Amino acid sequence: MAENIHPIFDSILKRTQREKLLGQKALVIWLVGLSGSGKSTIARALENALHEDGYLTMLLDGDNLRVGLNSNLGFSEADRQENIRRTAEVARLIADCGVITICSFITPTNELRRMSAEIIGESYHEVFVNCPIEVCEDRDVKGIYAKARNGEIKNFTGIDAPFESPQSPFLELKTDELTLQESVKRLFDKIIPLVKN
Ligand code: ADX
Repeated sequence: MAENIHPIFDSILKRTQREKLLGQKALVIWLVGLSGSGKSTIARALENALHEDGYLTMLLDGDNLRVGLNSNLGFSEADRQENIRRTAEVARLIADCGVITICSFITPTNELRRMSAEIIGESYHEVFVNCPIEVCEDRDVKGIYAKARNGEIKNFTGIDAPFESPQSPFLELKTDELTLQESVKRLFDKIIPLVKN
């Protein structure tokens, strides 16, 4: 914890002033799910749909942040916690700019989700991208389940590291039953009333 730090928050513009300028309300859509469940695909399609409709958005994706801001972090419990903590802090700052922020991270445990919800506050909207591990493993788009099974990757979520189902998500999308378009439409329709200003 830093000492002798004196933050001044009352002289900076309020989020509502920025939201008014942008003509939208900000929120954070936090997509949770196994690797290969479809989080990033849904996140990108949602961002495109919102952009087409004139909304300002920002997408934070685990795979991308892990080559930059979070490049010093691996997949131990402590590193995943730091990965989520940093991301939640960044998401909060971006949402404070009035921007609709979409985060795509496995976020494997309820404790990690509680932490990001706490950091982000009432803007936090958790979406469970639910897909059985057998289906994710069958898809294996990145070939990483095969590597996890033969021991090349350790602590792999769903194989030798835990994944807990979210307890009360804002929305659940069963991506083995829905098409990509159906998933995106459900999410889009649910958030539009919240982002209209
Ligand atoms: S999280 O657990 O800390 O939320 P994050 O979403 O940032 O994970 O990163 C997950 C991505 O990292 C996966 O989509 C996969 O491509 C890659 N990855 C590499 N090693 C692992 C691992 N041990 N467990 C899970 N994902 C891994």
